[in-house]
Amino acid sequence: MTWCLNQSMLSPVISTIIVLCLLSIHSSIAENLPRFQHRLKAQQTSLNFLVVGDWGRKGNYNQSFVAHQMGIVGENLNIDFVISTGDNFYEDGLEGVDDPAFYDSFVNIYIAPSLQKIWYAVLGNHDYRGDVEAQLSPILRQKDGRWVCLRSFILDAEIVEFFFVDTNPFVEKYFTDPEELEKHTYDWRGVLPRESYIAELLKEVDSALVQSKAKWKIVVGHHTIKTAGHHGNTQELEELLIPILKSNKVDAYINGHDHCLEHIIDKESGIQFLTSGGGSKAWRGDVKPWDEEELKLYHDGQGFMSVQITETNADIVFYDVFGKVLHTWRITKEFKSHAYIQFA
Ligand SMILES: *[C@@H]1O[C@H](CO)[C@@H](O)[C@H](O)[C@H]1NC(C)=O
Repeated sequence: MTWCLNQSMLSPVISTIIVLCLLSIHSSIAENLPRFQHRLKAQQTSLNFLVVGDWGRKGNYNQSFVAHQMGIVGENLNIDFVISTGDNFYEDGLEGVDDPAFYDSFVNIYIAPSLQKIWYAVLGNHDYRGDVEAQLSPILRQKDGRWVCLRSFILDAEIVEFFFVDTNPFVEKYFTDPEELEKHTYDWRGVLPRESYIAELLKEVDSALVQSKAKWKIVVGHHTIKTAGHHGNTQELEELLIPILKSNKVDAYINGHDHCLEHIIDKESGIQFLTSGGGSKAWRGDVKPWDEEELKLYHDGQGFMSVQITETNADIVFYDVFGKVLHTWRITKEFKSHAYIQFA
């Protein structure tokens, strides 16, 4: 089953109508992962999008300034959509579908015309501390047609295929660490039993990646896999997800969780690890040492990322809170299965 979002219906006034398109797809185990399709316009040669994470703080901690700069870059690049890497609503997700935070942290913050596009969002750990089913509810899409938040799903954008993975169930301490559980309550409805949930999810993601014919494959999740930042690497993802990224020659893993902007290239696999978690509160000040050959950018502050992808090039740009370009990188694909990296 494929869900198509009708972009032409998107406006601040009119809610998006979600058209259920029944397209025949190859039979697969991955049929449980919802699929969305984003079609390029005629003559469109590049897919353009922004990535922001860890943002929903009612405009505070520079969230509004980041939003403003996103609007400017979004217009210059004529973006197709926005990706949110999670922690959409602080501190504890949404309380319900009528939680005013949806307006205060999203609808009334990302107001620039260029940002009136679909927002494909995953959930972060803070979102799981609220009513997860409310944040996933189609009722929010009726309030603001941009909002597309699911646990795990696939977005087919022709030259690029995105695999959004809910990384929260992987993190064992959220389930077992007494200190963690004393401080926070997580809403695990629909995710238990954890082991079989994770096993099935991994199987579905792998099978979808194996079947993908897209030139570029990008995996999006909330948690860090490789990072010099506060949270460090997520061991469970290193163990369970990295092998799948490698065997399927995924180009990039995009995440939030660490409140920074970061670019690491794994020397061994060439996979790009891109952290865009600078949507609001930042400046943690505890950056750890990392192999200088791998770490191309660490910005311990607010900002966001843009990506432009053609058949042969992916251009990645990181911006700070003033919209100043901090770092650019180009990945070039000469042949279908060979990628090499060029200095930008
Ligand atoms: C907002 O951004 C400016 C410029 O980077 C920074 O000096 C300031 O500390 C930021 N404010 C907060 C609350 O992070």
